[in-house]
Amino acid sequence: MSTGSHALADRDELAQLPGQPFVAYRGDALHVEDVALKALAGQYGTPLFVYSKAAMLAALGAYQRGFAGRQAQICYAMKANSSLGVLQVFAKAGCGFDIVSGGELERVLAAGGDAQKIIFSGVGKTRAEMRQALSVGIGCFNVESASELDVLSDVASQMGLKAPVSIRVNPNVDPKTHPYISTGLKGNKFGVAHEDALRIYQHAAKLKGLKVVGIDCHIGSQITDTTPYLDAMDRVLELVAAIEGVGITLEHIDFGGGLGINYNHDTPPEADALWQLLLAKLDARGYGHKKLMIEPGRSLVGNAGVCLTEVLYVKPGEQKNFCIVDAAMNDLPRPAMYQAFHAIVPIAAAGPDAVAATFDVVGPICESGDWLGRDRPLLVAPGDHLAVLSAGAYCMSMASNYNTRGRAAELLVDGSTVHLIRERESAQDQMRHERLVTD
Ligand code: LLP
Repeated sequence: MSTGSHALADRDELAQLPGQPFVAYRGDALHVEDVALKALAGQYGTPLFVYSKAAMLAALGAYQRGFAGRQAQICYAMKANSSLGVLQVFAKAGCGFDIVSGGELERVLAAGGDAQKIIFSGVGKTRAEMRQALSVGIGCFNVESASELDVLSDVASQMGLKAPVSIRVNPNVDPKTHPYISTGLKGNKFGVAHEDALRIYQHAAKLKGLKVVGIDCHIGSQITDTTPYLDAMDRVLELVAAIEGVGITLEHIDFGGGLGINYNHDTPPEADALWQLLLAKLDARGYGHKKLMIEPGRSLVGNAGVCLTEVLYVKPGEQKNFCIVDAAMNDLPRPAMYQAFHAIVPIAAAGPDAVAATFDVVGPICESGDWLGRDRPLLVAPGDHLAVLSAGAYCMSMASNYNTRGRAAELLVDGSTVHLIRERESAQDQMRHERLVTD
């Protein structure tokens, strides 16, 4: 290790931050839109999530451009980030929502979302969740098994309703992503097998509590290549032809989500470029007139957010140097769960006491799996702040209270305006629903 007073580590590298231009350096000071992050860390404390509204709307804009002139509904897959202030941005922009639980449904409605633009995905919907969704009139249930169809029909019939359904088919296409986030292969729990789909559609069409309205697929997440999408579309369109061939009309085709983002020199296609290819295929196969639905999550919010953390200690070691920070796997679970990479960068110039070394950046949690980044060249001293980048998706929504750590605060930046959209959680908040046993 060495100490020094140079400014930022590698300017060329830092100039290429994922998420630009909404997360960018001005001189040595990292900004989200027009707000310097150093000031936010000082005012609100850390760990702290900071989101750019403009980045979210720009990401949405790429999809909207891709679908210009088409009948299409973008349903934000809110599992990526379900904070109310984030949902509100998408609701105001006219998005629908892809939900996977009754809790998510309540969040969408609380954020001002339109029930008719909600689609309900997931392999394990309960009867209570079905009733809840039917009573507010959601747009469609994406059903994942024959037995779920029977239960949904039963629940809807008891309410004197017909549930709108789409069946999630499993195209058996390899999305070439991490095994935990690939969902469209035969061994996955999701959807119905391609070869069973026609029979299951015929069964659905006979159930009196259902109205078949669409077909659905979702092959995985963090997909950076166009080929799996094009292959999945071929497989789904084969089925559309077969299903309509037996007299069942499909009003919409839902291609799921899954488009990747740039975490670490990843080069996913832009949403509009991907959809240009997919729409050309749809048109060529004669289905360009159908209503399209999509369920993007990560690609709408992932690069809109950063997580700020303070360096607590710098701990040199024989084999490894550790940079111990105040954010941990409970705030940022992706490295521990998927060995995921998030860039970690300084938010201001280093001071004279800064140490230049290659560090494992780790949190305070009592687990060896509690790391945020491995082998990162950094120039840091205790008290400095770092930003974990590309932290808008699947971070806060997967955060936990492990080690009785309160969940972080969240800010939404809009130009130079800062909105607190979630207060830091206290220990009292965490204990609110617990009871001591009284004799
Ligand atoms: N639709 C369905 C049915 C899904 O299962 C998912 C994600 C999406 C849409 C949205 O996919 P996206 O556009 O965000 O890729 N926690 C993992 C990602 C799990 C994704 C699960 N399903 C991670 O942090 O990488």
